[in-house]
Amino acid sequence: MRNVLDPVGVSTMDSYLVPRWAAEWKRIIDVVKGYHPYADNYAAITPIPDIPSLRDDLRSVAPSLADFTDRLESHISAGGCGAFVPELCLSDFDDNTRACLVYALAVCIGDPTQTDHKNRRVIWDVTPRKTETDYFPTFSEHDQEAAFHTDAQYYPVPEKYFALYVMKPASCYGGRSTVCDARALRHAIEAKNKRWIIEELHQRLLPFRVPSAFTTTQDSQDIQATIAPIFSDATSIRYRRDTLLDGLRYFPEYGDSDIVKALDAFDFELKNIKVAAEVFMPKDSLMFIDNHTALHARTAFVDRSRHLLRIRLQKDENIPIKYEMLTVKKLPTEAYDLIA
Ligand SMILES: [Fe+2]
Repeated sequence: MRNVLDPVGVSTMDSYLVPRWAAEWKRIIDVVKGYHPYADNYAAITPIPDIPSLRDDLRSVAPSLADFTDRLESHISAGGCGAFVPELCLSDFDDNTRACLVYALAVCIGDPTQTDHKNRRVIWDVTPRKTETDYFPTFSEHDQEAAFHTDAQYYPVPEKYFALYVMKPASCYGGRSTVCDARALRHAIEAKNKRWIIEELHQRLLPFRVPSAFTTTQDSQDIQATIAPIFSDATSIRYRRDTLLDGLRYFPEYGDSDIVKALDAFDFELKNIKVAAEVFMPKDSLMFIDNHTALHARTAFVDRSRHLLRIRLQKDENIPIKYEMLTVKKLPTEAYDLIA
């Protein structure tokens, strides 16, 4: 597994490095419950303002957890785009304790953010859901292939990191994950004398539609999109083809024939990318990704009991440009249906 992921910038961390859970788990859970009184149900954990205090307390009672998370993040700050832990050694705990320990691990690295605006959940269940016909589901809510994308690309400032932890993998061995460093992708495109694709998409403002679960208004008729570029100086990459094409249906003023040509050429390069690696994440594995640098994808699966946990983290960084999120009530145009 090391040989598969390391060449694309995702370091594999051996299980002997994981925190000494037996010595620290009770103290960790006590600290988490001190800040989140409802943590007996991990779905009830919502963002709190005093995350720095929680982080300090966790690091103080759980030094091996602090060491592990420092090491994990150092893989990325040293130039990588992620880290993979094949076995986090939490399988013997009950589901809620596993979720809370993964949450504690995440808190040691950054500030967990809410995923949806209705329940404000921090620990998001990535598992297929039934949806209404007019609902625009996101990848974490269905079982189809999820093409290369960055998370939360539809928000003005996407989170810096996200962690994916496997509660239960798909028994069909579907739902395989692929990771690609956007810097390597960019070099590969330029090496093929297709620099025009990058030039066309760099700093060009495009509309990424916000999926229904994550809109920030109460009205279900509202259509929202964040207007931001794919390649920018703020982040290496921001991308998801379906939210972008759907955004163009509602905000066609941001598109033209040059953009359509560049998007199709970019998508072709992504589908034929060589600088990417695919891995099946087994039960109890953890993937930690720099969401400003890496694209990730997932294959389809048929076992609808597949269940992962996802926590997104913001870091205290200065992102120089904050892009705008627009809200409208209108019908889609058909101008971009041909490329959808
Ligand atoms: Fe994703």
